[in-house]
Amino acid sequence: MSRYRIAVVVGSLRKDSFNRRLATALARLGPPEFEFHQLRIDDLPLYNQDNDGHPAESVLRLKSEIAASQGVLFVTAEYNRSIPGVLKNAIDNASRPYGQSAWAGKPAGVIGASIGAIGTAMAQQHLRNVLAYLDMPTLGQPEAFVHAKDGLFNADGSIGDASKAFLQAWMDRYVAWVKRHSV
Ligand code: FNR
Repeated sequence: MSRYRIAVVVGSLRKDSFNRRLATALARLGPPEFEFHQLRIDDLPLYNQDNDGHPAESVLRLKSEIAASQGVLFVTAEYNRSIPGVLKNAIDNASRPYGQSAWAGKPAGVIGASIGAIGTAMAQQHLRNVLAYLDMPTLGQPEAFVHAKDGLFNADGSIGDASKAFLQAWMDRYVAWVKRHSV
């Protein structure tokens, strides 16, 4: 049986981030052959093209973790109707030098939670635009705009009953997508 390593990028640095909790809970919905690894992005430098010839250790680490993965899962917060700067910074850092992007060809899933009623819909749409340019085949349906409210998580961190079936179905589609598009 093939094994699949998934690089998980959480678009929030907040300690009690709903999106980090969502990423952790989603990993439990994956099949046994899928391993989910949350990538560290809080120690990356602000992207500066002057550094393309001598990238920081943290950038090299990020790129090698993506390269070693068969898929990427973005779990993002929405800031001011777009993706948080920390996520865009991670994407930019791993996309360069030109022609040496770590993202190219990696199948991706996009999901996110917010306390607002639209559940990161705008941020996800902006992110899809970026991922299209980066040549990442991205799961289109089902869309998952998660409203962070009481009951989303059980006390043990798993997904609560109201959202469990929907998010399990989302994960099943994501797993099939990665299997179809990983090289
Ligand atoms: C927000 N929040 C927010 N929510 C939303 O639904 N749409 C938005 O555009 C924004 N904008 C926004 C900007 C900034 C700077 C902050 C700090 C927050 C609220 C946001 O959904 C909430 O803080 C979540 O808890 C963020 O996700 P994490 O950090 O819990 O994963």
